[in-house]
Amino acid sequence: MKHIRLSLVGFGVIGQGFAELILTKHGFLKRHYGVDISLVGVANARHGFIYHQDGLHIPTVLQLVKEKGSLSDYPGVKHWDSALEGLQANSADILVEVTPTNLRDAEPGMSHMRLALSKGMHVVTANKGPAALAASELIALASQHGVQFRMESTVMAGTPVISTIQEGLAGAQVFAMRGILNGTTNYILSAMAEGHDYVEALADAQAKGYAETDPTADVEGYDAVAKTLILAALIFGHSLKPEQVVREGITKISRQQIQMVNDQDKRMKLIASLRLKSDGDGQKKNLEARVEPAVLPLTDPLARVDGVTNALTIHSDTLPEVTIIGPGAGSKQTGQGLLADVLACFR
Ligand SMILES: NC(=O)c1ccc[n+]([C@@H]2O[C@H](COP(=O)([O-])OP(=O)(O)OC[C@H]3O[C@@H](n4cnc5c(N)ncnc54)[C@H](OP(=O)(O)O)[C@@H]3O)[C@@H](O)[C@H]2O)c1
Repeated sequence: MKHIRLSLVGFGVIGQGFAELILTKHGFLKRHYGVDISLVGVANARHGFIYHQDGLHIPTVLQLVKEKGSLSDYPGVKHWDSALEGLQANSADILVEVTPTNLRDAEPGMSHMRLALSKGMHVVTANKGPAALAASELIALASQHGVQFRMESTVMAGTPVISTIQEGLAGAQVFAMRGILNGTTNYILSAMAEGHDYVEALADAQAKGYAETDPTADVEGYDAVAKTLILAALIFGHSLKPEQVVREGITKISRQQIQMVNDQDKRMKLIASLRLKSDGDGQKKNLEARVEPAVLPLTDPLARVDGVTNALTIHSDTLPEVTIIGPGAGSKQTGQGLLADVLACFR
């Protein structure tokens, strides 16, 4: 039996969902994978970092947070005021980092990840900030310390996109991909295709918890840009900056435009795309990156992906078109991606 000790930094929707998942699956993972996963450290912003070398009792930690108590009320734990101090003072095999995505400077996740990798811990994350802005740096740092930096859940939550391309499509030359990588905008466009206007569709998405009170990151395409940057770095090895992605959101699309497109048996979708382009001599390839509304014929598999569902079509030399469709958000779904990455580090 292999013991895996985790520190979990960020204990909100995803952090708590992941803790519940490893609790539920503890016996199954022991039987089927020969791994005994324990949570030795947990941190949030309000209460700092708690640590117990023998492993924390997950139901107790969850209960404390649900009852609005402080993590530091957990009996017999060591406590630090911040995750950084806690990570510095202790060690675990893997840092699971799920603090909020920040697309300006990637903090606080970036500092947590740099520190953990430098200490020889693997890092697994759903946090798009560091993955979008600094994937190459973090992968290089991981390699320098003989550990892994894995980020399956940053794109399409637990739907296995990154591992499918990196492992399942190993040896294939991927030259393009196109996807619906933001569930909120796809939900809004699907509702508009059913006759609602933008304001109604957005209000509905907010009422259902699919859109934030400030929906800018989704509707203006920034979230899809972040995922595009992650795929550019991981799949194509190109470290693009956000401003190198052509970006247009969905706020200017009218119900009339959508109806016109529908009447032509087509669909309007917010499409993120990456395409290798030869720069003339046929040798050096540039990577074109775009996030913009596109009109798709119904024969395109992406045209029929509705609601909050995400999808990615991959074009390669050996498999001309492969489409992966699945959830792009949710705590259990994102937790699945984190769990798969944890098991991959162990393998
Ligand atoms: N929600 C989804 O479906 C989904 C899907 C894919 C990826 N993601 C990504 O997953 C990450 C987490 O999302 P979420 O929905 O769980 O967010 P959330 O509910 O806002 O939780 C964020 C957690 O991070 C903690 N935190 C913030 N700053 C911290 C710091 N300096 N040190 C330690 N902890 C800190 C917060 O502490 P407090 O509790 O004290 O505020 C909170 O516990 C984000 O990067 C998000 O983009 C989410």
